[in-house]
Amino acid sequence: MKILLVGSGGREHALAWKLVQSPKCEKLYCAPGNAGIANVAECIEIGAEDVKAIVEFSTNNKIDFVVVGPEQPLVDGLGDRLREAGIAVFGPSEEAAQLEGSKGYMKDFCARYDIPTAAYARFKSIDDAKTYIQAQNTRVVIKTDGLAAGKGVLLPETAEEAEAIVMDMLSGNSFGEAGMELVIEEFMEGEEISYFALADGDTFLPLTSAQDHKRVGDGDTGLNTGGMGAYSPAHFMTDELEQKILDRIIKPTVEGMKKDGAPFKGILFAGLMIVKGEPKLIEYNIRFGDPECQPIMMRLKSDLVDILLATDKGNLAEYQDKVEWSDDAALCVVMAADGYPGAYEKGTEIKNTSELDVMEDVYLFHAGTMRDNSGALVGSGGRVLGVTGLGATIQQAQNRAYHAVKAVDWPEGFYRSDIGWRAVAAQKDKAA
Ligand code: AMP
Ligand code: GLY
Repeated sequence: MKILLVGSGGREHALAWKLVQSPKCEKLYCAPGNAGIANVAECIEIGAEDVKAIVEFSTNNKIDFVVVGPEQPLVDGLGDRLREAGIAVFGPSEEAAQLEGSKGYMKDFCARYDIPTAAYARFKSIDDAKTYIQAQNTRVVIKTDGLAAGKGVLLPETAEEAEAIVMDMLSGNSFGEAGMELVIEEFMEGEEISYFALADGDTFLPLTSAQDHKRVGDGDTGLNTGGMGAYSPAHFMTDELEQKILDRIIKPTVEGMKKDGAPFKGILFAGLMIVKGEPKLIEYNIRFGDPECQPIMMRLKSDLVDILLATDKGNLAEYQDKVEWSDDAALCVVMAADGYPGAYEKGTEIKNTSELDVMEDVYLFHAGTMRDNSGALVGSGGRVLGVTGLGATIQQAQNRAYHAVKAVDWPEGFYRSDIGWRAVAAQKDKAA
């Protein structure tokens, strides 16, 4: 098969690395890719959000299967345009992508199908939103209805702060169009995990869990980021908890979307809060997580092309109970450019990465990298590398990942030094 992968981050490098291991993959292209992806695929100069150019390239080059990494092109209808052109695609339709593309859509959907999530209301009017905030005697969370590049969730600590945010958003000041409608919801207290399942419109196929580290600083402090590291599986995942997630969240979602005439084909990435042992849905993403995808791909033993393609073909049932995972844990440490998630410099040189090539059970996924005119590897984004280790225990995976991180020579970069800390602490508690 000729496969086109869409995207340019660490997630896409992990997908590319795994796709090319499939005997079904004859040729892999990536639009636009990065310096790491260029080692396993032919990168083409088409932006991940350029729906028209992606469809044209796919048609002209007789691409058999398009794997879409990020959400934006799916929300913009890339899945539909490719299917209309007769090309198989991993990713939902524009309508089904609303599960991520519109918080209001997702919350109304959960309400209709009794899927556990935070209590909420939707607002377009500043006065109504203020009245609602005043009536709550608990903390609230404020979310833009539309996509806001991962920045549309605000966690005010007081009602005054909440009212100020609402005024700013609904007047179009802070998020433009995406913030002209809001969801205000109950603040949930608990531990967060990510859960992933594939769906083909009818059937779902459970994959696995992971835990992300969203804050920029050690000990989960500082600003929110796209994710500074992740490991898989989540340390407190049990068969019982997984069954609850499948029964109460994933299954009713797949059934509900089908009933609503928007069958979901692709991946459901459920952001969950585990509140006193019970899973509650924080949000849906309709793509793999970044950096969660990196440790997940390191653990996956089965052929990735088969199961992703089955989401489009509708034969996921054939793979039920057949997806094989390594017994090992995997852990990814993100190396980011100094200043991230604020302003950062691009073009700083990263040296010594070849040392990682020979390290056992370590893989270096590139996120924001490119080659400069002299061929040197340089940073080209905020999150730049995802150094991922595999190990018999989470502690061993962590040791391997950090050993490799320390070998990278990049003075203008930084990383969190405690990725996986909850899991490592839990393991120590168990051993004690
Ligand atoms: P998101 O950008 O949707 O991934 O949300 C960012 C983060 O906000 C989540 O990872 C949670 O930590 C937090 N969050 C979102 N909604 C809630 C909620 N209802 N209660 C508590 N925390 C939340
Ligand atoms: N790491 C969180 C996300 O991909 O949304």
